[in-house]
Amino acid sequence: MQVFSSLMQEWLYGQNGYYRSLRVGKDRDFYTSVSSGELFGYTLGFFIAELFKKNQVPHSIVEIGAEQGALIADIVEYLVFYERDIALKMKFFVIEPLEEIHYIQEEYFKNRYQAWEQYSLEFPEIHILSAAQCFESPLFIANELFDAFPCDLVLDGAIGVVQDSCIQFLKPHEITDSALNQYALNVLEKAQKAGIQKGEICLNYRPFLQELLTQQSDWIFLVCDYGEFYARGDFSLRLYRNHQVFNLNDFLENLNSYFGCSDITYDVCFELLEQDFLHYGGRKDYFCRQNTALMDFGIAQVFEKITQGLNPRSKEYIRLAGMFRTLLTPSLLGEKFKVAIFSCCKHLFL
Ligand SMILES: C[S@@+](CC[C@H](N)C(=O)[O-])C[C@H]1O[C@@H](n2cnc3c(N)ncnc32)[C@H](O)[C@@H]1O
Repeated sequence: MQVFSSLMQEWLYGQNGYYRSLRVGKDRDFYTSVSSGELFGYTLGFFIAELFKKNQVPHSIVEIGAEQGALIADIVEYLVFYERDIALKMKFFVIEPLEEIHYIQEEYFKNRYQAWEQYSLEFPEIHILSAAQCFESPLFIANELFDAFPCDLVLDGAIGVVQDSCIQFLKPHEITDSALNQYALNVLEKAQKAGIQKGEICLNYRPFLQELLTQQSDWIFLVCDYGEFYARGDFSLRLYRNHQVFNLNDFLENLNSYFGCSDITYDVCFELLEQDFLHYGGRKDYFCRQNTALMDFGIAQVFEKITQGLNPRSKEYIRLAGMFRTLLTPSLLGEKFKVAIFSCCKHLFL
C-alpha cells in the first residue's frame, strides 16, 4: 500500500518515469502554450523587457520545468531580435533535475544556436543547471510546472491510497503502518486548514520553494498553470494520452494500464500556492486568466511587430494568427490557464 503522491512521484519521475522522455507537443500526448509556437515566449520576452525598463531587474531569467527548452529559447530570440541591449545585460538558465532531459535540452539549444547563426548576432548562452543556485535578481518562469508535482487525494477526512492498482480512500485509523498513518494525518490536517474536503492537495511545493527561494535575496516568480485560484471542491485529477483525456473514474480501479505512459495532472489551487510563496517572504503581485495576462503583457504589440509587412494571406501570417487565436481563445488555452506573479522585491512596477 502507498499513498497516492508516492505513486504519482514514481509515475512521473521514477526510473522509467513519464517525464524522463519528451512528452509535450502536437504529435505527443498533450500540448502547452509553449508548444503552440513562439508567440508565447516572445510575449514573455516583451514583458521582461518592459519590466527591466521600469525596474532595472531582472538580471537572470531562469526557467524551471523547461522540457526541451523551447520557451527560454523563444524568450532569448525575442530579446536579441528586438531588445538587444537588454538581452546582453541578462543571463539565462534552465533548472532541470532529470539527467535524460539535459541531453535533450543540449541538443535542442545546439539546433537553435545553429539556426541563429544566419543572423550574425550575439546570442547569450543558455546554461543548464541540475539544481537551484543563488542568482543575481532572478525572474523564475514556470509553465505547467506545479501541476506536475505529485499530489495527494482527500475525501471527507480520508486519504487516497493505492493497492493492487486501485485507489481507495482510508481514514487514518484504518491505516496500520505508522509512517503512512502519520503522513495521512499531516495531509488531512493541511487539507482541513485549507478547507479542502474533496480534491487534490500538494505538500511538495513548500520544500521546492524552500530550496529555491531561501538562496535568493530578491526574486520574481511567474507561474503559468492549469487551475483556479480557489479549490474547486472536487477531483480534477486526469490523464492525457495522445490528446485524449481520462478522468478519475476512468482509472480509479485500473491504474496499471496507464502507469508511466500517460501524463497525470490536476488543477493547481493558486490560493494554496500563494500561501507557500508567502511563507518564504513573497507576495502576490498579479493573478489573472492567461488570455488577459497575455494581453497585459503585450501580445497584441508583439503580434503587430512580428507580422509587420507580411501579407495577411501568406502562410507565415496565417501561422502566427493561428498561435494568437490558440493562446487567447477561452476554450483553447485562454481561460483554463492562469498566470500569477509572486515576488520578494521592495518595489516592483508591473
Ligand atoms: C508539464 S511539463 C512542463 C512543460 C513545459 N514547461 C512546457 O511548457 O512545454 C513539467 C516539467 O516539469 C519538470 N519538473 C518537475 N519537477 C521539477 C523540479 N522540481 N524542478 C525542475 N523541473 C521539474 C518535469 O520534469 C517536466 O519536464
